[in-house]
Amino acid sequence: MLTGVQQAGGEVELVSLAESKVQPCVSCYACHKTGTCVLKDDFEEISAKLHACDGFIFASPNYIHSVTAQLKALFDRSACIIHCVALAGKYGAVVETSGGGEDADVLKYMEHVVNILGAQSVGGIGSPVAGCRLFPDEEKLFDQARELGAELCRSIQEKRRFPEQDDFLNAFSVRMKRLVEFQQKEWTYEYEYWQTKE
Ligand SMILES: Cc1cc2nc3c(=O)[nH]c(=O)nc-3n(C[C@H](O)[C@H](O)[C@H](O)COP(=O)(O)O)c2cc1C
Repeated sequence: MLTGVQQAGGEVELVSLAESKVQPCVSCYACHKTGTCVLKDDFEEISAKLHACDGFIFASPNYIHSVTAQLKALFDRSACIIHCVALAGKYGAVVETSGGGEDADVLKYMEHVVNILGAQSVGGIGSPVAGCRLFPDEEKLFDQARELGAELCRSIQEKRRFPEQDDFLNAFSVRMKRLVEFQQKEWTYEYEYWQTKE
């Protein structure tokens, strides 16, 4: 997928969560009040990259019908980004591999996270019966992955709209704004963030 992005003219950066330290959320709610996490690890740097990029790809093997604990920790630590729907205007794509199946369920979950962060999803690609970096019908799969990467890049270049996602994105944004307004005395950073959006 990264090759596809580059072939379509985009620049890429790979962030390996396996080589990063992103600890599990401790539910202190500090990020809602200050916009910053109290845990000192690689999260803020990764968050800054997500805010700075035009598009992003989430990638994970299927671990017990979901994403890895490392990627889930990143999702959990992103609660403030989600409350602010702060990645609106960006584009996301997802990729998953599994030893058996259930690829569609995991891809759907990952695309849902792309949407609740505020971004439009360009799509996802999965490979069942993967293992030890081997994939059935590898040539075709890699072609499809490169094409999805190129689609992500072209979506950014052409500022594409995915109207079928509009209803969800709009309703979710309204829901988050209301939630933050309800908690305005506690979640001061997020409340002020929403005020700047008026
Ligand atoms: C902890 C763990 C949980 C896994 N759970 C599932 C699962 O629920 N369903 C499935 O199809 N494969 C599962 N797998 C298999 C991985 O998805 C598979 O090995 C991986 O996608 C292949 O990538 P690789 O090239 O890194 O080995 C699991 C593997 C591990 C290590």
